[in-house]
Amino acid sequence: MIRYATAGESHGPSLTAILEGIPAGVPVTEAYVNKELSRRQYSFGRGERLQYIEKDTARILSGVRWGETLGSPITFQIENKDWENWEKIMSVSAEDQQEKFRLTRPRPGHADLVGVLKFDRKDTRDILERASARETAARTAVGALCRRLLEELGIKIYSWVEEIGGVVAHTETLSVEDAFSLAEKSPVRCPDKKAEEKMMDAIKDAKANGDTLGGVYTVVATGCPVGLGNHTQWDLKLDGRLAQAILSIQAHKGVEMGRGFDMAKRKGSDLHDEIHYKEGRGFFRESNNAGGIEGGMSNGEPIVVRAAVKPLASLRKPLRSVNILTKAEMTAEIVRSDVCPVASAAVIGEAVTAIALAQAVKEKFGSDSLREMQDHLTRYKEHLLRF
Ligand SMILES: Cc1cc2nc3c(=O)[nH]c(=O)nc-3n(C[C@H](O)[C@H](O)[C@H](O)COP(=O)(O)O)c2cc1C
Repeated sequence: MIRYATAGESHGPSLTAILEGIPAGVPVTEAYVNKELSRRQYSFGRGERLQYIEKDTARILSGVRWGETLGSPITFQIENKDWENWEKIMSVSAEDQQEKFRLTRPRPGHADLVGVLKFDRKDTRDILERASARETAARTAVGALCRRLLEELGIKIYSWVEEIGGVVAHTETLSVEDAFSLAEKSPVRCPDKKAEEKMMDAIKDAKANGDTLGGVYTVVATGCPVGLGNHTQWDLKLDGRLAQAILSIQAHKGVEMGRGFDMAKRKGSDLHDEIHYKEGRGFFRESNNAGGIEGGMSNGEPIVVRAAVKPLASLRKPLRSVNILTKAEMTAEIVRSDVCPVASAAVIGEAVTAIALAQAVKEKFGSDSLREMQDHLTRYKEHLLRF
């Protein structure tokens, strides 16, 4: 079983993640993990301060030796490069407590108010530090290891941005590989140059007005064999697990598999992907409206997931709120914030997709070593062709 947990506050000394269940023999380097962290970190619309202070790098503290996983738990540590400025504010010691550090005006749309009520805290920082999407740096490191495993099994993951602040990209005619490689070069991860410009203008406008923007992105996984996930029990279904993985990312409020909500408007005859067969290729489809999953199991076509990200809750022109101590009405706290995180969110979407797929792969081809897992996969594919 592949499982993981992350720990660490946004401005604490470091983020930590422990990942268990990756088989032995998966080649990996810290540089590979750090490349994923950097893809997550830099995009147009995120805070400029990030570029100077918070260059994320992960140290691998266990589970990897001489460039290969050992099959033991893998620990990642991502240090806060700005810790010296937070030592007092985030100190473990009660002696460092100071009233001036207290935040008392919850932001509508953030975890602030619900968190202080639920956990009986008198400072919204006690909540926002862990609710913050900084935690996704740790998940991206975990996702990088899972992605490495998947690559060794021929599974690749791509993403690009489809929409920001109502500006919609046209990507229908692009192959997955082309959309991805254009997105990799775009400051907003958008493969459509015309839309990219408009998205950047929309972000500049929102920034100038103290506002924020959301959007939509697509993640695609290719090379998934038939039969990842399971139709026999609700919590084993691959679509449900991917949806949970995506919606667990901060600010993610919608998820679609394949044609998703658009399916509801169509007739069945106009939607379902007809089945074909060719000797040597096996069963296949010529369309992929299902998005690669039927009955909670991968059907061998690319897995397509779309995610909707809301505009962020920290506004420089803040909304109305109530002071949690005095109960007086006032505007919400203004804290340092991104304007639009959608491009970074797409990279996080890739990471959580990699984790969910690696978990499903381990269940189907469960092994202690990569070589054994590859053998199981090869035999299974041969079996499918003989079916
Ligand atoms: C990559 C990324 C960056 C984010 N940056 C911010 C930010 O700078 N300011 C903010 O208010 N919310 C930001 N968020 C969203 C909040 O973390 C999130 O809205 C909050 O924790 C409440 O959770 P919910 O929106 O999932 O309900 C970000 C989300 C993502 C995915």
